[in-house]
Amino acid sequence: MKTIRIGIIGCGKISCVQHVERFMKKDAAGKSEIVAVYDIKTARAKQCLEANQTSAKICQSLEELLAEPIDAVVIATPNDTHCPIALQAIAAGKHVFVEKPMASSVAEAEKMIRAAEAKGVVLLVDQSFRYMALYQAVKKELDKGAIGNIIHAHCIRTGGSTPNLTWSPGANWYVQKKHAGGVIFDHAVHMADVLQWLVGPIKTVQSTSRTHGMQAIIHSMSLFDFANGATGVLEHAWNFPTGITKIEIYGDKGMILFPEVMRAEFYRKGEDKPYKILSGRVDTTINTSKQTETATVVKPVPTAQETFLKAVAAKKSGMWNEGRQAIAVCEAILKATEGKKPVPVKYHKEK
Ligand SMILES: NC(=O)c1ccc[n+]([C@@H]2O[C@H](COP(=O)([O-])OP(=O)(O)OC[C@H]3O[C@@H](n4cnc5c(N)ncnc54)[C@H](O)[C@@H]3O)[C@@H](O)[C@H]2O)c1
Repeated sequence: MKTIRIGIIGCGKISCVQHVERFMKKDAAGKSEIVAVYDIKTARAKQCLEANQTSAKICQSLEELLAEPIDAVVIATPNDTHCPIALQAIAAGKHVFVEKPMASSVAEAEKMIRAAEAKGVVLLVDQSFRYMALYQAVKKELDKGAIGNIIHAHCIRTGGSTPNLTWSPGANWYVQKKHAGGVIFDHAVHMADVLQWLVGPIKTVQSTSRTHGMQAIIHSMSLFDFANGATGVLEHAWNFPTGITKIEIYGDKGMILFPEVMRAEFYRKGEDKPYKILSGRVDTTINTSKQTETATVVKPVPTAQETFLKAVAAKKSGMWNEGRQAIAVCEAILKATEGKKPVPVKYHKEK
């Protein structure tokens, strides 16, 4: 298979800890190499390559990077820059792997889709949960009717501080509205997408939120009416004392509980012990305060990066749908918050 040549745009935290390493893997589903990198702060590009013991050309501008012999770009910059950078890369004929959130509005996402379709390039959004083996396994169980018809879902994801203090120190765009920062585009973009993937499309959203003195929303609560009649609650906060992620999905025959990100427990109606536990972890034994339980570890699935390389190699376009759906819910949450009334979710309609 031909080696796919990659240019990385934005060499901050996520590129350093994930993209550079994954796109340098020679044993990935498709082979790739990083040819060039660009960051508005050149020192970060240098640090990122050094941290990954990788060499590539460090470019001084986006134009310089796009002129390099590359097939595809990875966009890992602040959220408000995803759309303009993607449009420039697509115009230059490059395939695009863009971090979530795909864009900062449905209108921007649509522009990117139209441009990518016109050029025939791949446009894949890194909606990470879609590439996690555990969530794919739970989706299969739900489709087989493991808990019957879904009637309600609840997800809470919190953090003890904002990402500019812990995840990427100094990345203040994470809490600035002008950069499409805040908990909606950072966390709801994942968890609302998980809910609409596992439960079904969301018809309308009601929402309320707080900024707690920041420039972007850092605490939000949303109510979902799903098209299949189910209800849902989604809560996010970066100002709580602890960080947790917990999901509950209730059906008419049972419920699924994710007590944490990488573990799912299946309960039948009327039984208080799980009849099945799946884990996305490498270890098979999970210690709880009461007992030691053995969980079935789900087999690894292709990463987002491997999926992208495969799509590029196969010249397959149209990979944007999951990112587009996630933006539709984020936009509805923001509009519902502002207007204080229910807002329909604008899913993509085939023309
Ligand atoms: N999929 C996931 O789970 C996941 C996890 C973390 C971050 N992300 C996303 O990845 C993106 C980057 O996040 P991060 O945590 O690495 O942020 P970061 O602030 O650590 O890194 C962003 C980098 O982009 C650079 N930059 C800013 N504007 C630029 C421009 N116009 N051109 C080139 N470089 C520019 C900055 O100098 C910085 O080095 C965000 O969109 C974020 O939402 C996704």
